[in-house]
Amino acid sequence: MPHHRLALCKEDFLSWFERYTERTIKEFRMFSKEDKVLVAVSGGKDSLALWYVLRKLGYRADGFYLHLGIGEYSERSKEKVEKFANSLGAKVIIKDLKEELVGIPELEKVTSRSACSVCGMLKRYNFNKVAKEHGYTVVVTGHNLDDEASSLLANVVNWNTKYLGRKYPVLEEEEGFVRKAKPFCKFTEKETALYALLRGIDFIEEECPYSEDATSIFFKEILNRIEEKFPGTKMKFYLEYLRKVYPKFRERKEGKVQPCKVCGEPSPAEVCPVCKLKERIGGVKIIKDGA
Ligand code: FES
Ligand code: ZN
Repeated sequence: MPHHRLALCKEDFLSWFERYTERTIKEFRMFSKEDKVLVAVSGGKDSLALWYVLRKLGYRADGFYLHLGIGEYSERSKEKVEKFANSLGAKVIIKDLKEELVGIPELEKVTSRSACSVCGMLKRYNFNKVAKEHGYTVVVTGHNLDDEASSLLANVVNWNTKYLGRKYPVLEEEEGFVRKAKPFCKFTEKETALYALLRGIDFIEEECPYSEDATSIFFKEILNRIEEKFPGTKMKFYLEYLRKVYPKFRERKEGKVQPCKVCGEPSPAEVCPVCKLKERIGGVKIIKDGA
């Protein structure tokens, strides 16, 4: 790991990885052992590894899996999550999107947005709602350094200043939002993959068929090319943003948040985007039933 100036054997790598996670949690004051932590799990390497490490470190961490209705892919990833929860002896909350809406493939057809963007919105909405309903004090996700640095680069290229004031490894609880944290934000994708493999975690290797959009993959590749030539750049790019740029934009709040009139979740308008979507889908269903 040239960016850490470290070369470790298997055992040392595993314990370094766990200690480093603990250090990151403390550095950003993400949560403590008193917190009730909800880990958003997809069945992939990052989220399952995160769940494993948190429990190993002694945190009270349960899992939450949102079934997205993406055919076999969703079925297989749900099985992985359930098996993993069993092996940990941990609780996992499973919610099926189809129970109150429809699956992602159907949603993609009726909205003008990409599958990934609707999916992202529904995940954020449900993580927050489910955490509050079950009394969790913080939601954690498995985002790694590659995820964070590549989305930062994409937003810098477009000078999306709204984004620059929102992106931080921990977002405090406010106005109907539960606290959110990303304890793996300083690990590269290679490091989390290696940890999951060496720990023998049985994760789903296949990507979601919609996968990440081409833009994010493109920016990840660019960063990897820079990293090859100048090791440490990826980490520096992200950490210096947190230190120097984020504080300058943090105060800038654009748009007011209010409780949605239908579901009570924080919303930019009277009715939140998810309830609007439900209303629309309801309409589609009525037309279908009537036809
Ligand atoms: Fe959300 Fe693939 S996981 S669209
Ligand atoms: Zn709503």
